[in-house]
Amino acid sequence: MPTITLKAATKHYGKPDAPAINALDLFIEDGEFMCLLGPSGCGKTTTLRLIAGLENLSGGSLHLDSKPVDVPDHGHFVSPDKRKLGLVFQSYALWPHLSVRRNVEFGLRLQKKPKAEIQHATEAVMQTLGILDYAERYPSELSGGQQQRVALARMLVVNPGILLMDEPLSNLDARLRLQMRTELQRIHQQYQSTLVFVTHDQWEAMALATRIAVMHEGIIQQVGTPTDIYERPANRFVAEFIGSPPINMVELDHADADFKQALFQLLGEKVVQQTAAIGIRPEHIQVTNSTKAGTLGAIVLSEIPTGGQSICELACGNHNLLMTTSRASGLVPGTTVRIAIAVDALNCFDRQGQRISIASELQNSGSTLSQSGTNWQSASLPAHNTPYHSTQSTTL
Ligand SMILES: Nc1ncnc2c1ncn2[C@@H]1O[C@H](COP(=O)(O)OP(=O)(O)O)[C@@H](O)[C@H]1O
Ligand SMILES: [Mg+2]
Repeated sequence: MPTITLKAATKHYGKPDAPAINALDLFIEDGEFMCLLGPSGCGKTTTLRLIAGLENLSGGSLHLDSKPVDVPDHGHFVSPDKRKLGLVFQSYALWPHLSVRRNVEFGLRLQKKPKAEIQHATEAVMQTLGILDYAERYPSELSGGQQQRVALARMLVVNPGILLMDEPLSNLDARLRLQMRTELQRIHQQYQSTLVFVTHDQWEAMALATRIAVMHEGIIQQVGTPTDIYERPANRFVAEFIGSPPINMVELDHADADFKQALFQLLGEKVVQQTAAIGIRPEHIQVTNSTKAGTLGAIVLSEIPTGGQSICELACGNHNLLMTTSRASGLVPGTTVRIAIAVDALNCFDRQGQRISIASELQNSGSTLSQSGTNWQSASLPAHNTPYHSTQSTTL
């Protein structure tokens, strides 16, 4: 079974004090669709190239199917051609002088498979990817999306257990990207391969992955399902990297008295004392008619309609907060409103920027939050573009 295990994996390109990836631990299960997600330069491509064997580790270990393939301390290194992998990079690198058919069957010819088998396998995979009609064309006669499908077909035809893809959709226009995403999911289900997919695009990762590894400066920040990553970010980097419009991050040192007072009431002194910053997703703020203690006054600064949803900027005491609503809110800039916040969806971070678990505190507080927990499951992901509706919008 193709599993991938990186332990304390470190890679530097000549400068040990500036590693491209640093003590990285990652276990990728058989059949998983794992996305490596992070800003440019965080070490995604390096990780993928290490798995492929195009780079070798400076320290730590890499196992494929529990077999050591790169363990520098023990002198193990298995060359890329012996690792049974398929690779697709951002540039498709098709042979320009070969037809689509010839490009796709290339790997099987190298393996010296029988002619009939080559023809059968090639046509089957071209059929699956909808490129059979272009079989006799040359790459220069194809659109970007068609070329990308040929690159995928060329990889799939040799039926590798592990597929590695480095930003394979980034050269496609928005519509094609969507189409190829759906296709990739279908291919993943059909071929049941272990897939490692590199992207800097959070929507792509959210839409495709079974799990996401968020990376920053060569270090894995969090590994989890898209829901985990979005709803329970392990630290401030993940909270702020994921989500668009971005999470509202309120530094408690700069919070005004009203805001702090409300937090004390709600979260209790113990949590607030540990907390350095509070993260509030824009969809967890609602305008309310209630004037109950705990709601906050805010002034509407602007509203930006973005098709399905609308983004409002609010001034709330010292803070500017973004709020998303499922449709145009009709709020007029300059007017004063009251807002409520879904407290059970708050993210509290300590001085080191690490998440503080507040679920048990909320339960213990016996306050308005007694049924919290259910709300975590009901939150929906931005990938589906449906705004979050807390099952109990509790006022702050
Ligand atoms: N061949 C190389 N030689 C020297 N430094 C490199 C090389 N490849 C990558 N790096 C450095 O390693 C870090 C991680 O790069 P990379 O893995 O390409 O990141 P990403 O794919 O996330 O953008 C960057 O600082 C980059 O400059
Ligand atoms: Mg890269």
